[in-house]
Amino acid sequence: MTSKTTSAKTVKALEGVLADTYVLAVKAHGFHWNVVGSDFVALHGFFGDQYEALFEAADDIAERIRALGSPAPASLAAFLKLTRVKEAGDKPLDAKAMIKQLLADNEQLSAALLKAAEVADSAEDAVTEDFLVGRAEWHDKQAWMLRSLLG
Ligand SMILES: [Fe+2]
Repeated sequence: MTSKTTSAKTVKALEGVLADTYVLAVKAHGFHWNVVGSDFVALHGFFGDQYEALFEAADDIAERIRALGSPAPASLAAFLKLTRVKEAGDKPLDAKAMIKQLLADNEQLSAALLKAAEVADSAEDAVTEDFLVGRAEWHDKQAWMLRSLLG
């Protein structure tokens, strides 16, 4: 049986990866809008798929927090306070710089998700642990595709 303290730690870990996921979704969305260059069509589509999947993932993470009985953080201010993902900023970026940022962010998020999975494991919360490991797998796949785009 999960104690209140260990479940609170799991919720805290989920809040962190929720914020990371949301901020990364906003970043991918901005790249979808602003990418330029000869690979525009492919990258516009790829970044579009990324932000849509990330928004859906943020929804799943927030709903896991709710399933554990806690309120989910739900403001941009809260996400910016909690996130470890750096925002893209307003400076225009070329396509390669966008891909490099998303690659580093996906690698970082995969590691953060596995750390959060360990917290869930310590709390004997196999469902959250499994969910977080699955999320890490998704980010590993994105990282592979982004790495492949760099050649
Ligand atoms: Fe669009």
